[in-house]
Amino acid sequence: MTILLPLILGYLLGSIPFGLVITKAAGLGDIRSVGSGNIGATNVLRTGRKDLALATLLLDGGKGAIAVIIAYLMGWRPEVAGAAAFLGHCFPVWLGFKGGKGVATFMGTLFALHFPAGIFAGATWLGVAYILKYSSLSALVAAAATPVVLYTMGKPFYALAALFMTLLIFIRHKSNIVRLLAGEEPKIGAKKSAEA
Ligand code: G3P
Repeated sequence: MTILLPLILGYLLGSIPFGLVITKAAGLGDIRSVGSGNIGATNVLRTGRKDLALATLLLDGGKGAIAVIIAYLMGWRPEVAGAAAFLGHCFPVWLGFKGGKGVATFMGTLFALHFPAGIFAGATWLGVAYILKYSSLSALVAAAATPVVLYTMGKPFYALAALFMTLLIFIRHKSNIVRLLAGEEPKIGAKKSAEA
């Protein structure tokens, strides 16, 4: 039960597609037909609405954090709840299992699981984004480093959960990686993207 309940709760929380809901509510149509087609904050920013992008970032991160916090309070495994929220975001049942890339939910999960690791991942994302201006590359660098950091901080189970999420983040960023290598990835805030 300490595995099943956090899995179910985390998945259901994570599967709420905030980027899609918020942009639809704002009358912007379906975010999946904009830019990269992703439902995350980076793509919401391509609509020109910074406020909606920030709300998407906070809510997508918040659902990961809340899943972890509830698991802590219930005496369940928090890393299972966080990883399940991440899975819910990437593969939401409500959208035919076609969801987002998981970066904000990964960050929110981390902040609640292990605050210093969350700070590390967030600062890495910001540092790379400040210098290179690519959201995807910033996410890939932060995600790659985080399991190592958690392991060296003496949190092997959290590191394992992070490694699982990192691998999926890389898989979900396949098209971004192809564009980065081809020099075609749009920079943060650019309105257009090459493909979904
Ligand atoms: O967090 C998602 C980001 O890393 C890439 O988003 O829309 O450019 O594919 P996007």
